[in-house]
Amino acid sequence: MPRWAMADLRALLEERLGVAFDAVEPGADPQVRPSDHADFQANGALALARRLGRDPRQLAAEIVDRAELADLCRAVEVSGPGFVNLTLDDAFVSRQLQAMAGDQRLGVEAVEEPVTVVVDYSAPNVAKEMHVGHLRSTIIGDALCRTLDFAGHKVIRENHVGDWGTPFGMLIEHLVAVGEEEAVHELSVGDLDTFYRQARASFDADEAFRERARRRVVLLQSGDEETLRLWRILVGQSIRYFDAVYSQLGVLLTDADVVGESFYNPMLPGVVAGLDERGLLVESEGALCAFPEGFANRHGDPLPLIVQKSDEGFGYAATDLAAIRDRVERLGARVILYVVGAPQAQHLEMCFAVARMAGWLPPGTEAVHVAHGSVLGSDRKMFRSRSGHSVKLGELLEEAVLRADAALAARDPGRPAQERAPVARAVGTGAVKYADLSTDRGHDYVFDWDRMLALEGDTGPYLQYAHARIHAIFRRAESDPGADSGVAPVLAQPAERALGLVLLGYPEAIGATLSSWSPSRLCAYLFSLATAFTTFYENCPVLQAPDPETRASRLALAALSARVLDHGLGLLGIGAPDQM
Ligand code: ARG
Repeated sequence: MPRWAMADLRALLEERLGVAFDAVEPGADPQVRPSDHADFQANGALALARRLGRDPRQLAAEIVDRAELADLCRAVEVSGPGFVNLTLDDAFVSRQLQAMAGDQRLGVEAVEEPVTVVVDYSAPNVAKEMHVGHLRSTIIGDALCRTLDFAGHKVIRENHVGDWGTPFGMLIEHLVAVGEEEAVHELSVGDLDTFYRQARASFDADEAFRERARRRVVLLQSGDEETLRLWRILVGQSIRYFDAVYSQLGVLLTDADVVGESFYNPMLPGVVAGLDERGLLVESEGALCAFPEGFANRHGDPLPLIVQKSDEGFGYAATDLAAIRDRVERLGARVILYVVGAPQAQHLEMCFAVARMAGWLPPGTEAVHVAHGSVLGSDRKMFRSRSGHSVKLGELLEEAVLRADAALAARDPGRPAQERAPVARAVGTGAVKYADLSTDRGHDYVFDWDRMLALEGDTGPYLQYAHARIHAIFRRAESDPGADSGVAPVLAQPAERALGLVLLGYPEAIGATLSSWSPSRLCAYLFSLATAFTTFYENCPVLQAPDPETRASRLALAALSARVLDHGLGLLGIGAPDQM
């Protein structure tokens, strides 16, 4: 695993203590953690003492003696059974904050060894509505792409659109039946599900239609020009609809990122041949299957990954295997992330295992299933619209903006609607995104308008509000929080010191986000920052500070808080308006 990010306080302490631990036993882990009793604590002496059969307190004292921490820490003390408590020196914290404010990157170092990361996310299906599962994949993938890019890695976004397979026989025949013009109209207004349902209904009801659909699949697969032209209409119209949703969401995905399933068609025979050459294919009931080790059903029988079906058609797995190969060989991927719902875990893990067996995912490369849970309704079942259909994302986002706008209007009735509009957009979509991103991605969550739009609690609007509040302070001070004052903050009050320490935790929050592939880590950090700022603001008057020095110091802390909030929300793909 490459080192994802970056110099941070904890890492710095770990490095210094590491030298002392090394002297006792090379490679011993100091285990530095945030602490309730001090700023940080090192727990590593306990485990090491157990291993060496030594007295842990005595060992901890030896570590304290050896470690060179005088320039970083005001106090280094052995406590309890053998913890080392570390209290940072205020002058050091102050200097670090000053340096952070003077740094465009807010103290976050770019990685020394950038790697190429392919991120497979969003992946809606042609002629089908995007559902909330695609929303999760799109938002989480977007945040990870932005964060990886900021960390200095080379990011390749791939939208693995479902644009191939047997349903296209029926979809193309339905297109022919309703007429191209009408079909284009239906699809362009985003009525993809109706189109799909009607195609399905004809297929189920009409034997002649079924036969035409079957022939159409054959024509499509054999590359018939006219059939491909019709297929392109379906794909093109669907992608236009996806783009509209992406732009509403404000994510980075564009047309250029679409690498649909069809892209891999020419490579599928090579996948089968390659697996066959390596002796990895077994014929089972007419299908060609691979049996990766370690996958069994309930009865303990090995599970097959179907690569080629008995009708000679290729399985979904063949496409995913071709994609792995293409990403590693052509794109030079070192890491491939699959931001895909948890139910596909077994399919993906089996593909990864077979790719490793075939040498297509060689040592030093890795594929990771960045799995996410589902979005639930208040009944704790899959989130659906009142009519029981899947929720249209476009409509969902429009509703978010309307609700945010209504809340803004209620708070400030005098404000012109025009001025409210961009703020409502940032707050509405930000609320939906933050509610999603702040949940541990593996978990399901209940979609709840009132909760996600609340100005209080762990919500997008709360973070945006904290940011806007700081801008309001600077408007009153007639200065700009973006301009670095060069001031080294004074940390006299507990709330000042606490805020300063949280600010310095930004690099670590980014590192944690990338090592867990979970933007919820960055959300949790930003929430702690907004909370620390609120406490600071309630306890430490800024513009009414007792003296000019304190005022300048507090303004510096406030400015840095605004910048980190703005930047961190930006990595999540969430806008931070200057005024709410
Ligand atoms: N199109 C699929 C769906 O909507 C998701 C594809 C996920 N990505 C992949 N490489 N298999 O369920």
